[in-house]
Amino acid sequence: MHSRNQIRFLLNGRQVALPDVGASQTLLDFLRLDRRLTGTKEGCAEGDCGACTVLVGRLAEGVLRYEAVNACIRFLATLDGCHVVTIEHLRGSDGALHPVQQAMVDHHGSQCGFCTPGFVMSLYALWMACPEPSPEQVETAIQGNLCRCTGYAPIIRAAVAVSRYGTPSADALTQERTRVTAALETLRDGARVETGPTDNRAILPADVEDFATVYAAQPQATVVAGATDVGLWVTKFLKPIGPAIFIGHLDGLRRIETEGETLRIGAGVSYSELGPVIAERFPYLAEYWNRIAGWQVRNMGTIGGNIANGSPIGDTPPVLIAMGAEVVLRHGDTRRTLPLEDFFIDYGKQDRRPGEFVEEIRLPLSQAGQRHAAYKISKRRDEDISSVAAGFRVTVADGRISEARLAFGGMAATPRRAVAAEAALVGQAWHEPAFEAAARALADDFTPLTDWRASAEYRAAAAANLLRRFYHEQAGQTPVRLAVA
Ligand code: FAD
Ligand code: FES
Ligand code: FES
Repeated sequence: MHSRNQIRFLLNGRQVALPDVGASQTLLDFLRLDRRLTGTKEGCAEGDCGACTVLVGRLAEGVLRYEAVNACIRFLATLDGCHVVTIEHLRGSDGALHPVQQAMVDHHGSQCGFCTPGFVMSLYALWMACPEPSPEQVETAIQGNLCRCTGYAPIIRAAVAVSRYGTPSADALTQERTRVTAALETLRDGARVETGPTDNRAILPADVEDFATVYAAQPQATVVAGATDVGLWVTKFLKPIGPAIFIGHLDGLRRIETEGETLRIGAGVSYSELGPVIAERFPYLAEYWNRIAGWQVRNMGTIGGNIANGSPIGDTPPVLIAMGAEVVLRHGDTRRTLPLEDFFIDYGKQDRRPGEFVEEIRLPLSQAGQRHAAYKISKRRDEDISSVAAGFRVTVADGRISEARLAFGGMAATPRRAVAAEAALVGQAWHEPAFEAAARALADDFTPLTDWRASAEYRAAAAANLLRRFYHEQAGQTPVRLAVA
């Protein structure tokens, strides 16, 4: 296998080749400080405000796909083989404003203008994927963009109107598509990339086999997938991450396959990539999925990262545990599979050995008789971390509950099943007293903590009420407002 020491990508209309890219160098710093492309703004530097939104195009199974991402937490090394598009690349015909920009002007979508380039980039990505979006689709696309002065209504009106200003088929990125695809194919030479200073080394393995080898040999390295957690270690905690092994480009970790009654999800699959599969296979999860972070973070963040980070408040572990998911761990050529609930041992402690990584998540498909739900309680509807998250899968056979899997996040040091509440349901008919008993039994399962997201009392009450809500929803009734005390 050959290796190289340069990061190569397309930046707007030009190819760049950068030797000596440190692991912790961000795309935003490169754009603003090195290339003086200052149209891309820095607001929060933690993926929350969208001021730094750019598009990144990459080849997925030979197809060029552009996504809106946060440049502030995107590491420069991860751009190898990609096309980075910044606000400076936008233009209409004959040097006029781009259709998205003109719509924003005409609909008064900008006041101080600080957030505007970020909004325009998010709306640009939306327009290319969905030229005539509904207001709801626009709201989803700008979940990750904050505006402090204009307000969102004019921006949404502009976004809905963009199709009157031009069509994506006439857009520069569509016109350049063949050329850009060919250029990116040339850049993907199958090499391992190693670059940056010794104490801040960035390694991009050639493929999954190479990743397994490199990580087994350097178990102290930081694995970086979507960087939506690790990015903040650098920008907020100023933590060194080198040597870092970047895995976001590995197609072998981004596969979604059905094998019999099991869905196999590569650890590197992003929330956005899995979204359509969720909508088709597990429709009850679709709304929950759209409430994980904002669009840019969902385009970057991976399922494997959400599990491997071991967070007690990650959104996917509770629902995956309830669904009976297994995690496949790999060290070198050795693999082992364990129920996801057993992966989380204690706060900050997972069943993962040095040099071992999450390779795949195996998810059983839904069976007849199963009733599911997923709930997220957070202070803000969008772009917020859960106070409590819950995943439920309850199986009814011959009029009785034969199996109950109730998993919660935010209630303990790890995402966990509520075994006492489950026991209160099993063997019972699907009726309210069983769910009342299960709701009470949650007090035996969890002693939640108070923190700035929620008090212990609030968490306990919310978790119990989610069980009640599940019962009422499944019984076809509108959930009623339940007392907190
Ligand atoms: P990374 O940041 O790349 O890595 C996270 C951790 O996992 C690191 O320790 C890394 O070493 C390790 N890792 C990654 N992949 C592997 C692997 N395959 N094998 C072994 N180790 C691995 N999370 C939520 O759950 N819900 C939210 O609503 C939410 N909102 C967010 C909003 C913002 C603005 C931001 C910045 C983050 C948010 N997050 C949220 C957190 C984050 O997006 C998720 O945890 C995400 O799934 C992390 O995945 P990643 O690929 O970005 O992980
Ligand atoms: Fe706020 Fe990047 S600067 S999301
Ligand atoms: Fe000022 Fe949005 S126009 S923050």
